[in-house]
Amino acid sequence: NGVGKLEDHPKLPKGKTVAVVVLDGWGENKPHQYNCIHVAQTPTMDSLKQGAPEKWRLIRAHGPAVGLPTEDDMGNSEVGHNALGAGRIFAQGAKLVDLALASGKLYEGEGFKYISESFEKGTLHLIGLLSDGGVHSRLDQLQLLLKGASEHGAKRIRVHILTDGHDVSDGSSVGFVETLENDLANLREKGIDAKIASGGGRMYVTMDRYENDWDVVKRGWDAQVLGEAPNKFTNAVEAVKKLRETANDQYLPPFVVVDENNEAVGPIVDGDAVVTFNFRADRMVMLAKALEYQDFDKFDRVRYPKIRYAGMLQYDGELKLPSHYLVSPPEIDRTSGEYLVRNNIRIFACSETVKFGHVTFFWNGNRSGYFNPQLEEYVEIPSDIGIAFNVQPKMKASEIGEKARDAILSRKFDQVRVNIPNGDMVGHTGDIQATIVGCKAADEAVKVILDAIEQVGGIYVVTADHGNAEDMVKRNKAGEPLYDENGELQILTSHTCHPVPIAIGGPGLAPGVRFRNDVPDGGLANVAATVMNLHGFVAPEDYEPTLIEVVDN
Ligand code: 3PG
Ligand code: CO
Repeated sequence: NGVGKLEDHPKLPKGKTVAVVVLDGWGENKPHQYNCIHVAQTPTMDSLKQGAPEKWRLIRAHGPAVGLPTEDDMGNSEVGHNALGAGRIFAQGAKLVDLALASGKLYEGEGFKYISESFEKGTLHLIGLLSDGGVHSRLDQLQLLLKGASEHGAKRIRVHILTDGHDVSDGSSVGFVETLENDLANLREKGIDAKIASGGGRMYVTMDRYENDWDVVKRGWDAQVLGEAPNKFTNAVEAVKKLRETANDQYLPPFVVVDENNEAVGPIVDGDAVVTFNFRADRMVMLAKALEYQDFDKFDRVRYPKIRYAGMLQYDGELKLPSHYLVSPPEIDRTSGEYLVRNNIRIFACSETVKFGHVTFFWNGNRSGYFNPQLEEYVEIPSDIGIAFNVQPKMKASEIGEKARDAILSRKFDQVRVNIPNGDMVGHTGDIQATIVGCKAADEAVKVILDAIEQVGGIYVVTADHGNAEDMVKRNKAGEPLYDENGELQILTSHTCHPVPIAIGGPGLAPGVRFRNDVPDGGLANVAATVMNLHGFVAPEDYEPTLIEVVDN
Protein backbone atom coordinates (compact mmCIF):
# COMPACT_ATOMS: atom_id res chain seq x y z
CA ASN A 1 0.00 0.00 0.00
CA GLY A 2 2.92 2.33 -0.56
CA VAL A 3 3.99 2.56 3.05
CA GLY A 4 7.68 1.87 2.81
CA LYS A 5 10.98 3.11 4.00
CA LEU A 6 11.21 6.74 5.00
CA GLU A 7 14.17 8.81 3.93
CA ASP A 8 16.66 9.67 6.65
CA HIS A 9 16.59 13.25 7.82
CA PRO A 10 19.79 14.96 6.65
CA LYS A 11 20.42 16.63 9.99
CA LEU A 12 18.34 15.03 12.72
CA PRO A 13 19.41 11.90 14.56
CA LYS A 14 17.47 8.73 15.22
CA GLY A 15 17.06 6.95 18.50
CA LYS A 16 15.61 9.68 20.68
CA THR A 17 12.54 8.95 22.77
CA VAL A 18 9.80 11.28 21.60
CA ALA A 19 6.81 12.02 23.83
CA VAL A 20 3.77 13.23 21.90
CA VAL A 21 1.29 14.76 24.31
CA VAL A 22 -2.17 15.81 23.13
CA LEU A 23 -4.15 17.90 25.56
CA ASP A 24 -7.77 17.41 24.60
CA GLY A 25 -9.85 20.59 24.40
CA TRP A 26 -6.96 23.00 25.14
CA GLY A 27 -7.10 26.07 22.93
CA GLU A 28 -5.36 29.42 23.12
CA ASN A 29 -7.45 32.42 24.07
CA LYS A 30 -7.12 35.83 25.71
CA PRO A 31 -6.77 35.74 29.48
CA HIS A 32 -10.17 36.27 31.12
CA GLN A 33 -12.28 34.79 33.88
CA TYR A 34 -14.03 32.28 31.60
CA ASN A 35 -10.75 30.99 30.22
CA CYS A 36 -10.29 28.05 32.58
CA ILE A 37 -6.79 27.35 31.30
CA HIS A 38 -5.78 30.89 32.17
CA VAL A 39 -7.46 30.81 35.59
CA ALA A 40 -6.08 27.37 36.51
CA GLN A 41 -2.55 27.00 37.78
CA THR A 42 -0.75 25.57 34.77
CA PRO A 43 2.95 26.27 35.42
CA THR A 44 4.19 23.61 33.02
CA MET A 45 2.21 24.81 30.03
CA ASP A 46 3.02 28.41 30.98
CA SER A 47 6.73 27.67 30.96
CA LEU A 48 6.49 26.05 27.53
CA LYS A 49 4.89 29.22 26.24
CA GLN A 50 8.01 31.13 27.27
CA GLY A 51 9.74 29.30 24.45
CA ALA A 52 7.83 31.27 21.78
CA PRO A 53 8.42 31.78 18.92
CA GLU A 54 11.18 29.20 18.36
CA LYS A 55 9.84 26.40 20.56
CA TRP A 56 6.17 27.36 21.01
CA ARG A 57 3.62 28.52 18.49
CA LEU A 58 -0.05 28.29 17.59
CA ILE A 59 -1.58 26.04 14.95
CA ARG A 60 -5.04 25.83 13.42
CA ALA A 61 -7.42 23.19 14.67
CA HIS A 62 -10.82 24.01 13.13
CA GLY A 63 -12.58 24.43 9.80
CA PRO A 64 -10.94 23.61 6.48
CA ALA A 65 -7.54 23.19 8.19
CA VAL A 66 -8.90 19.87 9.51
CA GLY A 67 -11.15 19.00 6.56
CA LEU A 68 -14.40 20.53 7.85
CA PRO A 69 -16.78 22.39 5.53
CA THR A 70 -16.34 26.01 6.69
CA GLU A 71 -14.36 28.41 8.89
CA ASP A 72 -17.33 28.41 11.27
CA ASP A 73 -16.91 24.71 12.03
CA MET A 74 -15.27 24.25 15.40
CA GLY A 75 -12.66 21.55 15.69
CA ASN A 76 -13.28 18.19 17.25
CA SER A 77 -11.28 15.20 18.36
CA GLU A 78 -12.07 12.97 15.43
CA VAL A 79 -10.90 15.36 12.74
CA GLY A 80 -8.16 16.69 15.01
CA HIS A 81 -6.57 13.33 15.73
CA ASN A 82 -7.08 12.23 12.13
CA ALA A 83 -5.08 15.27 10.98
CA LEU A 84 -2.42 14.85 13.67
CA GLY A 85 -1.87 11.23 12.76
CA ALA A 86 -2.32 11.34 8.99
CA GLY A 87 -0.26 14.44 8.23
CA ARG A 88 -2.63 15.44 5.45
CA ILE A 89 -6.04 17.11 5.32
CA PHE A 90 -8.88 14.86 4.24
CA ALA A 91 -12.39 16.04 3.48
CA GLN A 92 -14.17 14.75 6.55
CA GLY A 93 -17.50 13.00 7.12
CA ALA A 94 -19.47 16.21 7.56
CA LYS A 95 -18.33 17.49 4.20
CA LEU A 96 -18.60 14.16 2.37
CA VAL A 97 -22.20 13.78 3.50
CA ASP A 98 -22.99 17.35 2.42
CA LEU A 99 -21.63 16.61 -1.03
CA ALA A 100 -23.42 13.28 -1.39
CA LEU A 101 -26.73 14.84 -0.36
CA ALA A 102 -26.32 17.88 -2.59
CA SER A 103 -25.43 15.86 -5.67
CA GLY A 104 -27.98 13.14 -4.96
CA LYS A 105 -25.21 10.53 -5.19
CA LEU A 106 -26.22 9.28 -1.78
CA TYR A 107 -29.40 7.80 -3.26
CA GLU A 108 -27.53 6.07 -6.06
CA GLY A 109 -25.03 4.29 -3.83
CA GLU A 110 -25.02 0.66 -2.79
CA GLY A 111 -26.00 1.47 0.80
CA PHE A 112 -29.17 3.33 -0.05
CA LYS A 113 -30.20 0.71 -2.62
CA TYR A 114 -29.70 -1.95 0.02
CA ILE A 115 -31.94 -0.34 2.63
CA SER A 116 -34.53 0.81 0.10
CA GLU A 117 -35.44 -2.80 -0.60
CA SER A 118 -37.25 -2.71 2.73
CA PHE A 119 -39.28 0.39 1.92
CA GLU A 120 -42.19 -1.44 0.32
CA LYS A 121 -43.11 -3.55 3.34
CA GLY A 122 -41.03 -2.21 6.19
CA THR A 123 -40.34 0.94 8.14
CA LEU A 124 -37.25 3.11 7.74
CA HIS A 125 -35.75 3.97 11.14
CA LEU A 126 -33.31 6.83 11.49
CA ILE A 127 -31.25 6.88 14.67
CA GLY A 128 -28.84 9.66 15.59
CA LEU A 129 -27.88 12.87 17.32
CA LEU A 130 -30.39 15.66 16.86
CA SER A 131 -28.59 19.00 16.76
CA ASP A 132 -26.70 21.34 14.49
CA GLY A 133 -23.43 20.78 16.36
CA GLY A 134 -21.75 19.37 13.26
CA VAL A 135 -19.48 17.13 15.30
CA HIS A 136 -21.35 13.82 15.03
CA SER A 137 -24.29 14.78 12.84
CA ARG A 138 -26.20 17.78 11.54
CA LEU A 139 -29.90 18.55 11.64
CA ASP A 140 -29.93 19.89 8.07
CA GLN A 141 -28.48 16.60 6.83
CA LEU A 142 -31.22 14.68 8.65
CA GLN A 143 -33.81 16.97 7.09
CA LEU A 144 -32.43 16.35 3.61
CA LEU A 145 -32.25 12.62 4.25
CA LEU A 146 -35.88 12.53 5.40
CA LYS A 147 -36.97 14.38 2.30
CA GLY A 148 -34.78 12.32 -0.03
CA ALA A 149 -35.71 8.96 1.49
CA SER A 150 -39.40 9.75 1.23
CA GLU A 151 -38.94 10.82 -2.40
CA HIS A 152 -37.09 7.57 -3.02
CA GLY A 153 -39.81 5.32 -1.74
CA ALA A 154 -39.82 5.30 2.08
CA LYS A 155 -43.46 5.28 3.16
CA ARG A 156 -43.18 4.77 6.87
CA ILE A 157 -40.40 6.52 8.78
CA ARG A 158 -39.54 6.53 12.45
CA VAL A 159 -36.89 8.81 13.93
CA HIS A 160 -35.10 7.84 17.14
CA ILE A 161 -33.57 11.00 18.50
CA LEU A 162 -30.63 11.56 20.82
CA THR A 163 -30.63 14.99 22.41
CA ASP A 164 -27.36 16.90 22.50
CA GLY A 165 -26.51 19.83 24.82
CA HIS A 166 -22.81 18.88 24.56
CA ASP A 167 -21.77 20.18 21.14
CA VAL A 168 -24.54 22.79 21.40
CA SER A 169 -26.14 24.67 24.33
CA ASP A 170 -28.06 22.85 26.97
CA GLY A 171 -31.77 23.42 26.45
CA SER A 172 -31.51 23.70 22.68
CA SER A 173 -32.98 20.20 22.31
CA VAL A 174 -36.54 21.48 22.61
CA GLY A 175 -36.17 23.68 19.54
CA PHE A 176 -34.55 20.91 17.52
CA VAL A 177 -37.37 18.50 18.36
CA GLU A 178 -39.95 21.13 17.42
CA THR A 179 -38.23 21.66 14.08
CA LEU A 180 -38.15 17.94 13.43
CA GLU A 181 -41.81 17.52 14.42
CA ASN A 182 -42.70 20.25 11.99
CA ASP A 183 -40.82 18.49 9.16
CA LEU A 184 -42.48 15.19 9.99
CA ALA A 185 -45.89 16.87 9.96
CA ASN A 186 -45.11 18.15 6.46
CA LEU A 187 -44.20 14.63 5.38
CA ARG A 188 -47.45 13.31 6.83
CA GLU A 189 -49.34 15.82 4.73
CA LYS A 190 -47.71 14.22 1.73
CA GLY A 191 -48.97 10.82 2.82
CA ILE A 192 -45.79 9.57 4.49
CA ASP A 193 -46.36 8.01 7.89
CA ALA A 194 -43.49 9.77 9.68
CA LYS A 195 -43.04 10.08 13.45
CA ILE A 196 -40.52 10.39 16.24
CA ALA A 197 -40.49 6.99 17.96
CA SER A 198 -38.05 7.29 20.85
CA GLY A 199 -35.41 9.46 22.41
CA GLY A 200 -32.89 10.06 25.17
CA GLY A 201 -29.83 12.14 26.04
CA ARG A 202 -26.69 11.26 24.10
CA MET A 203 -24.47 10.69 27.16
CA TYR A 204 -27.01 8.40 28.82
CA VAL A 205 -28.58 6.71 25.83
CA THR A 206 -26.78 5.03 22.88
CA MET A 207 -23.76 7.29 22.32
CA ASP A 208 -21.17 5.71 24.58
CA ARG A 209 -17.75 5.16 23.03
CA TYR A 210 -14.82 2.78 23.18
CA GLU A 211 -16.92 0.26 25.10
CA ASN A 212 -16.84 2.33 28.26
CA ASP A 213 -20.35 1.39 29.40
CA TRP A 214 -22.58 -0.95 27.39
CA ASP A 215 -25.57 -0.08 29.59
CA VAL A 216 -25.75 3.19 27.69
CA VAL A 217 -26.26 1.32 24.43
CA LYS A 218 -28.67 -1.11 26.03
CA ARG A 219 -30.91 1.73 27.25
CA GLY A 220 -31.11 2.91 23.67
CA TRP A 221 -31.70 -0.59 22.31
CA ASP A 222 -34.60 -1.13 24.66
CA ALA A 223 -36.28 2.08 23.53
CA GLN A 224 -35.41 1.98 19.85
CA VAL A 225 -35.70 -1.73 19.05
CA LEU A 226 -37.93 -3.14 21.77
CA GLY A 227 -40.07 -0.02 22.18
CA GLU A 228 -39.59 -0.14 25.94
CA ALA A 229 -38.53 2.66 28.26
CA PRO A 230 -39.40 3.85 31.75
CA ASN A 231 -40.90 7.00 30.25
CA LYS A 232 -43.77 6.98 27.79
CA PHE A 233 -45.19 10.05 26.08
CA THR A 234 -47.56 10.64 23.22
CA ASN A 235 -45.50 13.57 22.01
CA ALA A 236 -41.73 13.99 21.79
CA VAL A 237 -41.65 17.73 22.47
CA GLU A 238 -43.59 17.16 25.66
CA ALA A 239 -41.26 14.29 26.53
CA VAL A 240 -38.17 16.43 26.25
CA LYS A 241 -39.72 19.34 28.14
CA LYS A 242 -40.89 17.09 30.94
CA LEU A 243 -37.67 15.09 31.25
CA ARG A 244 -35.63 18.29 31.26
CA GLU A 245 -37.12 19.06 34.67
CA THR A 246 -34.74 16.49 36.17
CA ALA A 247 -31.87 16.19 33.68
CA ASN A 248 -30.14 18.32 31.08
CA ASP A 249 -30.16 17.58 27.37
CA GLN A 250 -27.11 15.32 27.32
CA TYR A 251 -28.40 13.10 30.13
CA LEU A 252 -32.15 12.84 29.42
CA PRO A 253 -33.46 9.40 30.38
CA PRO A 254 -34.80 7.22 27.56
CA PHE A 255 -38.39 7.57 26.43
CA VAL A 256 -40.64 6.03 23.84
CA VAL A 257 -43.48 7.67 22.00
CA VAL A 258 -46.74 5.74 22.35
CA ASP A 259 -50.12 5.87 20.63
CA GLU A 260 -53.55 6.23 22.26
CA ASN A 261 -53.43 2.53 23.24
CA ASN A 262 -50.13 3.06 25.02
CA GLU A 263 -48.31 1.04 22.33
CA ALA A 264 -44.86 2.18 21.16
CA VAL A 265 -45.24 3.82 17.74
CA GLY A 266 -41.96 2.58 16.32
CA PRO A 267 -40.15 -0.50 17.60
CA ILE A 268 -37.74 -2.02 15.09
CA VAL A 269 -39.03 -5.31 13.69
CA ASP A 270 -38.17 -7.90 11.05
CA GLY A 271 -38.19 -6.46 7.57
CA ASP A 272 -37.37 -2.88 8.63
CA ALA A 273 -34.49 -0.72 7.46
CA VAL A 274 -32.27 1.18 9.90
CA VAL A 275 -29.89 4.06 9.26
CA THR A 276 -27.66 5.53 11.95
CA PHE A 277 -27.31 9.04 10.60
CA ASN A 278 -24.26 10.21 12.56
CA PHE A 279 -21.26 10.61 10.29
CA ARG A 280 -18.77 10.45 13.13
CA ALA A 281 -17.66 7.00 14.15
CA ASP A 282 -16.66 6.78 17.78
CA ARG A 283 -20.06 7.05 19.38
CA MET A 284 -21.88 4.94 16.79
CA VAL A 285 -19.59 1.91 16.65
CA MET A 286 -21.14 0.22 19.67
CA LEU A 287 -24.70 0.50 18.38
CA ALA A 288 -23.49 -0.57 14.93
CA LYS A 289 -22.13 -3.76 16.49
CA ALA A 290 -25.41 -4.43 18.27
CA LEU A 291 -27.36 -3.89 15.05
CA GLU A 292 -25.02 -5.79 12.77
CA TYR A 293 -23.48 -8.72 14.62
CA GLN A 294 -25.40 -11.98 14.73
CA ASP A 295 -23.16 -13.11 17.58
CA PHE A 296 -23.21 -10.48 20.24
CA ASP A 297 -22.77 -10.83 23.98
CA LYS A 298 -22.40 -7.30 25.32
CA PHE A 299 -25.97 -7.20 26.59
CA ASP A 300 -29.13 -9.21 26.14
CA ARG A 301 -30.81 -7.86 23.02
CA VAL A 302 -33.97 -9.87 23.89
CA ARG A 303 -35.03 -9.66 20.26
CA TYR A 304 -32.63 -9.39 17.28
CA PRO A 305 -34.71 -8.23 14.33
CA LYS A 306 -33.80 -9.17 10.76
CA ILE A 307 -33.19 -5.73 9.33
CA ARG A 308 -31.31 -4.02 6.56
CA TYR A 309 -28.89 -1.71 8.33
CA ALA A 310 -26.65 1.01 6.93
CA GLY A 311 -24.50 3.63 8.63
CA MET A 312 -24.33 7.15 7.28
CA LEU A 313 -20.65 6.23 6.83
CA GLN A 314 -18.68 3.10 7.43
CA TYR A 315 -17.46 3.71 10.96
CA ASP A 316 -14.53 1.30 11.24
CA GLY A 317 -12.39 0.61 8.20
CA GLU A 318 -10.60 -2.33 9.77
CA LEU A 319 -13.70 -4.10 11.06
CA LYS A 320 -15.61 -3.02 7.92
CA LEU A 321 -18.40 -1.94 10.23
CA PRO A 322 -21.13 -1.50 9.24
CA SER A 323 -20.90 -3.45 6.03
CA HIS A 324 -23.44 -1.17 4.34
CA TYR A 325 -23.23 2.63 4.39
CA LEU A 326 -24.69 5.58 2.54
CA VAL A 327 -21.51 7.60 2.03
CA SER A 328 -17.96 6.34 1.69
CA PRO A 329 -15.75 7.54 4.55
CA PRO A 330 -12.59 9.55 3.93
CA GLU A 331 -9.88 7.16 2.89
CA ILE A 332 -7.26 8.04 5.41
CA ASP A 333 -4.33 5.92 4.31
CA ARG A 334 -0.56 5.94 4.89
CA THR A 335 -0.78 7.46 8.36
CA SER A 336 2.34 8.51 10.24
CA GLY A 337 1.79 5.73 12.75
CA GLU A 338 1.92 3.13 10.01
CA TYR A 339 5.01 4.67 8.43
CA LEU A 340 6.85 4.88 11.71
CA VAL A 341 6.06 1.31 12.67
CA ARG A 342 7.16 0.09 9.23
CA ASN A 343 10.41 1.95 9.91
CA ASN A 344 10.86 0.12 13.19
CA ILE A 345 9.75 2.88 15.51
CA ARG A 346 8.35 1.32 18.67
CA ILE A 347 5.17 3.05 19.75
CA PHE A 348 3.37 3.27 23.07
CA ALA A 349 -0.04 4.96 23.13
CA CYS A 350 -2.23 5.57 26.14
CA SER A 351 -5.28 7.36 27.42
CA GLU A 352 -8.26 6.58 29.58
CA THR A 353 -11.24 4.83 28.00
CA VAL A 354 -13.21 7.91 26.96
CA LYS A 355 -10.28 9.13 24.86
CA PHE A 356 -8.40 5.90 24.23
CA GLY A 357 -9.55 5.52 20.63
CA HIS A 358 -8.52 9.10 19.93
CA VAL A 359 -4.77 8.34 20.18
CA THR A 360 -5.15 4.93 18.56
CA PHE A 361 -8.21 4.55 16.28
CA PHE A 362 -8.55 8.18 15.11
CA TRP A 363 -4.77 8.68 15.09
CA ASN A 364 -4.40 5.72 12.76
CA GLY A 365 -7.06 6.92 10.31
CA ASN A 366 -10.16 5.30 11.88
CA ARG A 367 -8.48 1.94 11.97
CA SER A 368 -8.59 -0.30 15.02
CA GLY A 369 -5.79 -2.59 16.10
CA TYR A 370 -2.02 -2.57 15.74
CA PHE A 371 0.10 -2.26 12.61
CA ASN A 372 2.66 -4.52 14.23
CA PRO A 373 1.95 -5.86 17.72
CA GLN A 374 5.64 -6.60 18.18
CA LEU A 375 6.45 -2.91 18.00
CA GLU A 376 3.36 -1.34 19.51
CA GLU A 377 1.63 -1.28 22.85
CA TYR A 378 -1.65 0.54 23.40
CA VAL A 379 -2.74 0.91 27.02
CA GLU A 380 -6.24 1.87 28.04
CA ILE A 381 -6.83 3.11 31.57
CA PRO A 382 -10.45 2.37 32.50
CA SER A 383 -12.50 5.54 32.92
CA ASP A 384 -14.79 5.82 35.90
CA ILE A 385 -18.27 4.72 34.94
CA GLY A 386 -21.35 6.63 35.93
CA ILE A 387 -19.54 9.55 37.57
CA ALA A 388 -20.00 12.92 35.89
CA PHE A 389 -16.76 14.48 34.72
CA ASN A 390 -17.34 17.61 36.78
CA VAL A 391 -17.64 15.49 39.90
CA GLN A 392 -14.23 13.89 39.25
CA PRO A 393 -12.53 16.58 37.15
CA LYS A 394 -9.05 15.17 37.65
CA MET A 395 -10.23 12.11 35.74
CA LYS A 396 -7.30 9.73 35.10
CA ALA A 397 -4.79 12.44 34.22
CA SER A 398 -2.20 11.40 36.78
CA GLU A 399 -2.55 7.72 35.86
CA ILE A 400 -2.01 8.59 32.20
CA GLY A 401 1.03 10.68 33.10
CA GLU A 402 2.46 7.84 35.18
CA LYS A 403 1.90 5.20 32.51
CA ALA A 404 3.63 7.45 29.99
CA ARG A 405 6.46 8.11 32.43
CA ASP A 406 6.96 4.39 32.99
CA ALA A 407 6.91 3.72 29.26
CA ILE A 408 9.50 6.44 28.69
CA LEU A 409 11.77 5.27 31.49
CA SER A 410 11.51 1.66 30.31
CA ARG A 411 13.34 2.75 27.14
CA LYS A 412 11.32 0.15 25.29
CA PHE A 413 9.64 2.73 23.07
CA ASP A 414 10.71 5.39 20.61
CA GLN A 415 7.41 7.21 20.71
CA VAL A 416 5.16 7.59 23.74
CA ARG A 417 1.88 9.17 22.79
CA VAL A 418 -0.94 10.17 25.11
CA ASN A 419 -4.19 12.06 25.18
CA ILE A 420 -4.98 13.95 28.40
CA PRO A 421 -8.76 14.45 28.39
CA ASN A 422 -9.61 16.92 31.15
CA GLY A 423 -9.91 20.24 29.29
CA ASP A 424 -12.38 18.64 26.94
CA MET A 425 -14.45 16.23 28.98
CA VAL A 426 -14.85 18.54 31.96
CA GLY A 427 -15.24 21.54 29.64
CA HIS A 428 -18.24 19.85 28.00
CA THR A 429 -20.06 19.78 31.34
CA GLY A 430 -20.07 23.59 31.39
CA ASP A 431 -18.92 23.55 35.02
CA ILE A 432 -16.33 26.34 35.21
CA GLN A 433 -14.90 25.55 38.65
CA ALA A 434 -14.52 21.87 37.80
CA THR A 435 -12.91 22.68 34.47
CA ILE A 436 -10.30 24.78 36.26
CA VAL A 437 -9.51 21.81 38.49
CA GLY A 438 -9.32 19.58 35.41
CA CYS A 439 -6.90 21.90 33.61
CA LYS A 440 -4.57 21.95 36.60
CA ALA A 441 -4.59 18.15 36.71
CA ALA A 442 -3.79 17.99 33.00
CA ASP A 443 -0.88 20.38 33.45
CA GLU A 444 0.50 18.23 36.26
CA ALA A 445 0.35 15.16 34.06
CA VAL A 446 2.32 16.99 31.38
CA LYS A 447 5.00 17.75 33.97
CA VAL A 448 5.35 14.10 34.90
CA ILE A 449 5.92 13.24 31.25
CA LEU A 450 8.37 16.09 30.62
CA ASP A 451 10.37 15.10 33.70
CA ALA A 452 10.70 11.56 32.37
CA ILE A 453 11.79 12.90 28.97
CA GLU A 454 14.40 14.98 30.79
CA GLN A 455 15.72 11.84 32.48
CA VAL A 456 16.15 9.83 29.29
CA GLY A 457 17.47 12.69 27.20
CA GLY A 458 14.41 12.63 24.97
CA ILE A 459 12.25 15.08 23.05
CA TYR A 460 8.73 16.27 23.70
CA VAL A 461 5.98 17.60 21.47
CA VAL A 462 3.05 19.01 23.41
CA THR A 463 -0.05 20.10 21.54
CA ALA A 464 -3.85 19.85 21.56
CA ASP A 465 -6.60 18.68 19.24
CA HIS A 466 -9.04 21.61 19.45
CA GLY A 467 -10.22 24.27 21.87
CA ASN A 468 -12.76 23.89 24.65
CA ALA A 469 -11.70 24.86 28.20
CA GLU A 470 -10.24 28.22 27.14
CA ASP A 471 -13.72 29.68 26.74
CA MET A 472 -16.76 28.65 28.71
CA VAL A 473 -19.30 31.30 27.68
CA LYS A 474 -21.28 32.09 24.61
CA ARG A 475 -20.45 35.46 23.09
CA ASN A 476 -21.96 38.04 20.78
CA LYS A 477 -20.21 39.20 17.62
CA ALA A 478 -18.29 41.78 19.62
CA GLY A 479 -16.98 38.99 21.84
CA GLU A 480 -18.93 39.94 24.95
CA PRO A 481 -20.51 37.21 27.13
CA LEU A 482 -24.19 36.54 26.48
CA TYR A 483 -26.88 36.35 29.14
CA ASP A 484 -30.29 34.73 28.90
CA GLU A 485 -33.62 36.43 29.66
CA ASN A 486 -33.18 35.69 33.39
CA GLY A 487 -29.82 37.42 33.42
CA GLU A 488 -27.94 34.12 33.66
CA LEU A 489 -24.63 33.71 31.90
CA GLN A 490 -24.97 31.50 28.81
CA ILE A 491 -22.51 28.67 29.30
CA LEU A 492 -20.59 27.26 26.36
CA THR A 493 -20.31 23.49 26.63
CA SER A 494 -18.95 22.96 23.13
CA HIS A 495 -15.57 23.15 21.44
CA THR A 496 -14.28 26.40 19.94
CA CYS A 497 -12.60 27.70 16.81
CA HIS A 498 -9.49 28.84 18.64
CA PRO A 499 -6.02 27.75 17.59
CA VAL A 500 -4.06 25.40 19.82
CA PRO A 501 -0.49 25.60 21.08
CA ILE A 502 2.35 23.35 20.05
CA ALA A 503 5.63 23.21 21.95
CA ILE A 504 8.82 21.26 21.29
CA GLY A 505 11.80 20.71 23.52
CA GLY A 506 13.70 18.32 25.72
CA PRO A 507 17.40 17.53 26.10
CA GLY A 508 17.34 15.30 23.01
CA LEU A 509 16.22 18.08 20.70
CA ALA A 510 19.14 18.78 18.40
CA PRO A 511 20.67 22.24 18.72
CA GLY A 512 19.37 24.57 16.04
CA VAL A 513 15.91 23.00 15.82
CA ARG A 514 13.22 25.66 15.88
CA PHE A 515 9.83 26.42 14.41
CA ARG A 516 10.06 27.81 10.90
CA ASN A 517 8.33 31.08 10.29
CA ASP A 518 7.26 30.33 6.72
CA VAL A 519 4.24 28.18 7.59
CA PRO A 520 2.16 30.78 9.43
CA ASP A 521 -1.08 28.97 8.56
CA GLY A 522 0.18 25.65 9.89
CA GLY A 523 -2.39 23.37 11.43
CA LEU A 524 -2.73 20.01 13.10
CA ALA A 525 -1.89 18.20 9.86
CA ASN A 526 1.61 19.71 9.95
CA VAL A 527 2.42 17.91 13.18
CA ALA A 528 2.94 14.45 11.65
CA ALA A 529 5.86 15.54 9.46
CA THR A 530 7.29 17.41 12.45
CA VAL A 531 7.19 14.30 14.61
CA MET A 532 8.69 12.17 11.84
CA ASN A 533 11.61 14.63 11.68
CA LEU A 534 12.15 14.31 15.41
CA HIS A 535 12.41 10.53 14.92
CA GLY A 536 15.13 11.23 12.32
CA PHE A 537 13.07 10.84 9.14
CA VAL A 538 11.83 13.02 6.34
CA ALA A 539 8.06 12.80 5.88
CA PRO A 540 6.55 11.56 2.59
CA GLU A 541 6.29 14.29 -0.01
CA ASP A 542 2.53 14.64 0.03
CA TYR A 543 2.43 15.26 3.78
CA GLU A 544 1.75 18.80 4.96
CA PRO A 545 5.10 20.51 5.57
CA THR A 546 6.98 20.14 8.79
CA LEU A 547 6.80 22.98 11.28
CA ILE A 548 10.49 22.82 12.15
CA GLU A 549 13.81 23.65 10.60
CA VAL A 550 17.39 23.09 11.70
CA VAL A 551 19.64 26.11 11.65
CA ASP A 552 23.39 25.78 11.91
CA ASN A 553 24.82 27.56 14.87
C1 3PG B 1 -17.94 14.05 22.22
O1 3PG B 1 -18.17 13.11 21.45
O2 3PG B 1 -17.62 13.91 23.40
C2 3PG B 1 -18.13 15.44 21.69
O3 3PG B 1 -19.22 15.50 20.83
C3 3PG B 1 -16.93 15.88 20.97
O4 3PG B 1 -15.81 15.78 21.77
P1 3PG B 1 -14.43 15.29 21.19
O5 3PG B 1 -14.43 15.65 19.74
O6 3PG B 1 -13.45 16.11 21.96
O7 3PG B 1 -14.32 13.84 21.45
CO1 CO C 1 -14.89 17.28 23.08
